[in-house]
Amino acid sequence: MKAEMTMAKIQKIESEIKITVIGTGYVGLVSGTCLSELGYTVYCIDKDEEKIRKLQSGYIPIYEPGLEELVRRNVENGRLNFSTDLASAVSDTTVIFITVGTPNAPDTGRPNLSYMQSAIKELALLMTEYKTIVIKSTVPIGTAREMKALMANLNLQANFGIVSNPEFLREGHAVYDFMNPDRIILGFEDDVLKSNLDINNLNDPKSHSKTIMEQIYAPFSTKNVPILNTNLESAEVIKYTANSFLAVKIAFINEVANLCEKVDGNIETIATALGLDPRIGPAYLKVGPGFGGSCFPKDIQALVALGNDYQVPQTIVEAAMHSNETRKLQMIDKIISACRGTVDKKKIAVLGLSFKANTDDIRDSPAIPIIKGLQAAGADIVAYDPVSMSVAKLFLAHIEWAKDIEMALKGVYAVVIATEWPEFSRLDFDLLAAKPVIIDLRNLYEPDKMLKKGINYHCIGKKS
Ligand code: UGA
Repeated sequence: MKAEMTMAKIQKIESEIKITVIGTGYVGLVSGTCLSELGYTVYCIDKDEEKIRKLQSGYIPIYEPGLEELVRRNVENGRLNFSTDLASAVSDTTVIFITVGTPNAPDTGRPNLSYMQSAIKELALLMTEYKTIVIKSTVPIGTAREMKALMANLNLQANFGIVSNPEFLREGHAVYDFMNPDRIILGFEDDVLKSNLDINNLNDPKSHSKTIMEQIYAPFSTKNVPILNTNLESAEVIKYTANSFLAVKIAFINEVANLCEKVDGNIETIATALGLDPRIGPAYLKVGPGFGGSCFPKDIQALVALGNDYQVPQTIVEAAMHSNETRKLQMIDKIISACRGTVDKKKIAVLGLSFKANTDDIRDSPAIPIIKGLQAAGADIVAYDPVSMSVAKLFLAHIEWAKDIEMALKGVYAVVIATEWPEFSRLDFDLLAAKPVIIDLRNLYEPDKMLKKGINYHCIGKKS
């Protein structure tokens, strides 16, 4: 018999929300910590015992400004717990966020849902009373509905609601983004979407998921953050299309930058002008060596694959995907041409390995293929990054690893700025005995000032 939901119990849930977060990767760790900061008791669960042991001892496995302090504070006040014990967490909580990884399979480009399926299978064995299951991982359209069916098949008695609640956290700003969202998207099953809590039908789990989610995010709705309730599929589409749209914007501005280099335009003035049109907006119009990270490349690839599945090709996103691949090759050519047509046996410093500043993440970082391309053309590479070198060492070979910027710049023929770490924008190239060629793939310097200093400087999308 399905567990009964009494009014007293609903009120208890609302006053003492307790949350299980399955998966302590990037999204799970940040979301779980921030939910505890909002005042809820949170159990962050992971199968990786070593990781949980480290988290329990205060070690944060990712570089994310502000996170360590927040974890410490909430562990100390007892609201944030790390454990491998899913059963105990589930029995003590009503809301379960699933934040497991969904990496794309290399051969198909489609997200691998095996971690999500395992989470549902394990949960199915633990469903003795009502739970709201919230999918926060980025998943293909239709996944929430599929997971609902999987749960219902595995446990006919399971009493639950399913919610799609995509995240919009940027690495390096994730704590800020969680605590200051532009919007919160909540996808519900169609009948839940239409329902209001029916106090005469307290056994209907559908209304509860909506009530509980609204309660969880109440600290934001009181600050007028838009909360958009929609159906499960729309919530899933919103996540993919938000990332895809931003990726298209970047690919677009990078291609316009190529044009600027030919026609003597200035990409920064152009981006500012475009951004001043409120219909376009200024964000994600910064030129660079191409977008990377664990999200944009993966999500656009997944959207393209999904479009093909349904025979509705997503050609614009597909073009952005190809444009971004080409971008890295263009950067290699640009560097070689700045080095008078050859990098063979020339020592080149690459500053920045992470896919952007404020993260140690090198996944799909443009710096990696650029380094490999330069090595293939005969260059000797010395590399420096303030936080990501230990990870980068696993993916790059035959590199001289500099312990600081000074060491990286010593005696090099050229310097490539690949990541916009703030410290790379304060370099005094005047102090270097030999004047290296500077190829600034993040436009951190003013070409005029560099010219006056007699520095052979190359940037993107404007005269240098
Ligand atoms: C991105 C989205 O911005 C988040 O909203 C989303 O939650 C996240 O993916 C995700 O799906 O989990 P993130 O991958 O951390 O966040 O990185 P962004 O800061 O968006 O930058 C992505 C890439 O675009 C970087 O390589 C960055 O250098 C590049 N970029 C960004 C540009 O080249 N130009 C810009 O103007 C902005």
